[in-house]
Amino acid sequence: MNIDFSALAQKYNTPLYLYDFDYIAKRYQELKEAFSGQKSLISYAVKANSNIFVIRHLAQMGAGADCVSIGEVRRALAAGVKRYKIIFSGVGKRDEEIREALQSDILMLNLESEAEMKRVELVAKELGKEARISIRVNPNIDPKTHPYISTGLHENKFGVEIDVAKRMYIYAKKSPHLNPVGVHFHIGSQLTELDPIKEACGIVADLVRNLKALEIEIKFFDVGGGLGVTYESETTISAEAYADVVIEAARGLDVTLLCEPGRYLTANAGYLLTKVLYEKGNGGRRFVIVDAAMNDLIRPSLYDAYHKIEVADSADTKKEEMTAADIVGPVCESGDFFGKNVMLPPLGHDALVVIYSAGAYGFSMSSNYNTRGRAAEVALVNGEDHLIRKREQFEDIVALELACESGWQRSK
Ligand code: LLP
Repeated sequence: MNIDFSALAQKYNTPLYLYDFDYIAKRYQELKEAFSGQKSLISYAVKANSNIFVIRHLAQMGAGADCVSIGEVRRALAAGVKRYKIIFSGVGKRDEEIREALQSDILMLNLESEAEMKRVELVAKELGKEARISIRVNPNIDPKTHPYISTGLHENKFGVEIDVAKRMYIYAKKSPHLNPVGVHFHIGSQLTELDPIKEACGIVADLVRNLKALEIEIKFFDVGGGLGVTYESETTISAEAYADVVIEAARGLDVTLLCEPGRYLTANAGYLLTKVLYEKGNGGRRFVIVDAAMNDLIRPSLYDAYHKIEVADSADTKKEEMTAADIVGPVCESGDFFGKNVMLPPLGHDALVVIYSAGAYGFSMSSNYNTRGRAAEVALVNGEDHLIRKREQFEDIVALELACESGWQRSK
């Protein structure tokens, strides 16, 4: 897609997030197609990009939602995701969240410990309900990704060991308030190798077979998310290869194949536009200071993640004019950078810079650090641009503080 970055920056100002909705649709269809002929459900991992319009776009194509807080469940429902396609995961659900999820009658709660199972049973009992549950298994497999986004090893806080899972299923089967319908695992994010996924699928499929022998019928085989994308030059797993591995592992089991992609659907649909404020040199090092910062996109600071950076309208730039620069934001931290040693032409005030692959874990991880308002978000649909989140203003940031302007403050 040819995007007129300059016109959009002019119209909406910067920092600005842009999402190519047609690309998201293409990715969703690709994955859905790969599972064709199977009972399957793609529940979008809302955490990757939680904008209601993004979720709605996917829901309109039939996607479900994978949520990790009741806030995300509410977003999914508000966006029109069918309640029977919503999963609620996470290691630390509060009683209120469990209650609301059960009352909302979503597809299932994904449990991550025995203690949590007892809590869910108790809340379901209070409500006179039977909670549909899945159990997150930790298959102890190294996904070969960044340690911060690796989740399927025993050293990580996620899921339970196979033996514990088995015990939990047996308990749940006997409980009048629990209905074990699913099994789940998620070994990590930004996975670019198929073997760890294959291995995990095998281990978990064996568990499902064992459970069948105990007359515990698992209906949903949830392989989590994690499909990697190309940020720089990574070779990634194709939708077909991924689906084939899952289909093969679950052969003979009468289950719905469920996956929870986040990044795969939205990462490369997103662009963060930012304008140059100043250039400066420090001891021979070149710094380009832009108007976006780590509060807008924290991935480089947090994971040392690579994002391709280019200057918009720089097609005529000669190679010899380019020099290495660090692209940094205005936040008061040395970790506030988007790229180091990036080759860039000389840049004047207001030159427009495009940060690529920013559609997943970009805006959704943004904050108000340094009392900076969050960026605006725009959807690009079929050649048209639509504002899907207004730029945050100072008044929005302080509203909840000013709402407390009564009581003890006044008596002072
Ligand atoms: N399902 C579960 C249970 C998850 O924990 C996650 C991500 C997903 C699905 C979606 O994973 P994806 O398909 O997007 O890889 N902030 C990090 C990523 C953290 C991922 C956490 N869990 C980043 O910016 O790379």
